[in-house]
Amino acid sequence: MTETGYGLLKGKKGIIFGALDERSIAWRIALACKREGADFVLSNAPIALRLGTLNALSEETDAPIIPCDVSKEDEVDELMKKTKEELGGVDFILHAIGMSPNIRKKKEYNDLNYNWLNQTLDISAISLHKVLNYAEKNGVLNEGASVVALSYIGAQRIFSKYSDMNDAKALLESIARNYGSRLAKRGIRVNTVSQAPTKTSAGTGIKGFDGMYTFAEKLAPLGNPSADECADYCVTLFSDLTRKVTMQNLYHDGGFVTSGISEEMIDDLAKIYAEGSE
Ligand SMILES: NC(=O)c1ccc[n+]([C@@H]2O[C@H](COP(=O)([O-])OP(=O)(O)OC[C@H]3O[C@@H](n4cnc5c(N)ncnc54)[C@H](O)[C@@H]3O)[C@@H](O)[C@H]2O)c1
Repeated sequence: MTETGYGLLKGKKGIIFGALDERSIAWRIALACKREGADFVLSNAPIALRLGTLNALSEETDAPIIPCDVSKEDEVDELMKKTKEELGGVDFILHAIGMSPNIRKKKEYNDLNYNWLNQTLDISAISLHKVLNYAEKNGVLNEGASVVALSYIGAQRIFSKYSDMNDAKALLESIARNYGSRLAKRGIRVNTVSQAPTKTSAGTGIKGFDGMYTFAEKLAPLGNPSADECADYCVTLFSDLTRKVTMQNLYHDGGFVTSGISEEMIDDLAKIYAEGSE
């Protein structure tokens, strides 16, 4: 990767949701978008903005911050109106938002608090619907725009520690497909990127995250991709080079999704079970 990039997003404008701190995938994506020549606004929930860390990214990328709690419809509407004032229409939107009170409070899947489940689904999935709905209603999405939401393979496979976020990601991917089909007539693409476990605030907040991270790292032939590598992939999806890719869930996981077991794991497991049977 060159430090100056390829100019893939020259002249493009966007909205980036979900940068919390330097480790956030959205933070890395914002830096990559800037490197590629894009201008954008940054958004996060007012409570997250109180930490103050986003100001550094805002200064580095010359991007204004527009607060928005995506669980509040009026705030999403307001954000789109302000974005229009700030940038006019946008060519890309990144949705990198996830939160589960049940996971935070270590609630098991068969003992969920249903109010919290509603919050999980609302913030982590239905928010994509709200963002696209109000972007359209306010005339914010340019023809040929590209929308990417970050997902996880828990949408397809059961990862017990991922609890109700497995359901949230399945819903998120469904909303991306459904909106993708409706926006296609304007050449607008909507995809999800299914990223491997990544050491961020949301990721490491999951009980058992280290085990999930190590398992994926050992199974994936290319190993786990970093947040910066995810950022480079998202740049290609925001660029014109991928203009006919839509309604897809795209795995960015070093080959994890199609792997059965690695040689290293076979050898390790053989040793563990041999010791157990002694
Ligand atoms: N870290 C991983 O292992 C991993 C793997 C695959 C997918 N993802 C997804 O990537 C996305 C970004 O997560 P991350 O890992 O960079 O962690 P992160 O904690 O840095 O980002 C999550 C963001 O969601 C924001 N958010 C929460 N509630 C909100 C609300 N009501 N309104 C607006 N924003 C709100 C947080 O403030 C935070 O910025 C999430 O969708 C996550 O599920 C993460």
